[in-house]
Amino acid sequence: MIDIGRVRSQLPDHEIYWHPTIGSTMTEASRLAAAGCESGTIVGADEQTAGQGRYGRVWHSEPGAGLYVSIVLRNPFPADALPVVTLALGLATSEAILKATDVSCDLRWPNDVLIQSRKCAGILTQLEGSAIIAGIGINVNHAAFPDELTAIATSLRMATGREHSRERLLVELVSSVTNFCSLLEQQGREPILEMFSRASSFVYGRRVYVDQGDAMLQGTTAGLDPSGFLVLRGDDGKQNVIIAGGVRPCS
Ligand code: BTN
Repeated sequence: MIDIGRVRSQLPDHEIYWHPTIGSTMTEASRLAAAGCESGTIVGADEQTAGQGRYGRVWHSEPGAGLYVSIVLRNPFPADALPVVTLALGLATSEAILKATDVSCDLRWPNDVLIQSRKCAGILTQLEGSAIIAGIGINVNHAAFPDELTAIATSLRMATGREHSRERLLVELVSSVTNFCSLLEQQGREPILEMFSRASSFVYGRRVYVDQGDAMLQGTTAGLDPSGFLVLRGDDGKQNVIIAGGVRPCS
């Protein structure tokens, strides 16, 4: 169990609801947001029994091994800011991991945090009224993954050969999320788009497949558009703006 008292003492401005076990922190954070909780409210758990990933997938939430949190954000972002907020959260997660563990991560548009091409963290954003629920899962001290995830997932422990403090990581994460959201609020999208483009090996010149469920696109990445969507140049030279989809490298 996380030492939540230690975290609370370092994040005095945040209401923190910590659960030994919960279905999904997203559901509980949405409920609290609908009931009017303050911006910066954090819902976290040592274990999720129904952790939610993108596209209705399950987020593997091994008890005591990862960080599973949802943060309620009430920054006055424009209604169409969700894609760039997701990019800002990726930058914040990557920064927090670097500060807490010294591990440098890659970012795969829109919201995967990678170490040597394997996913160590994922981000899920959803709206609850005017609030954004920022769900962040980080694989911290997992020693192994179920067979179906072995080839695509990693943890900070597996990447470094040592365990890491979830308390320290949570404090860094909340501080980075707060700072990146303030930056977006005060300076608009441009700094986030530039920082994400620099931090991600996927934004320019990468041969990728994009799985859109009903179609599979292939092409070379050609930057982000002003909304934070990925631009893909097809082999016919035409540019597609990718609004959603799973991006995977061709090789
Ligand atoms: C993804 O990459 O598919 C997104 C994963 C998001 C997982 C986190 S864990 C905390 C929060 N609660 C959930 O049920 N999901 C998010």
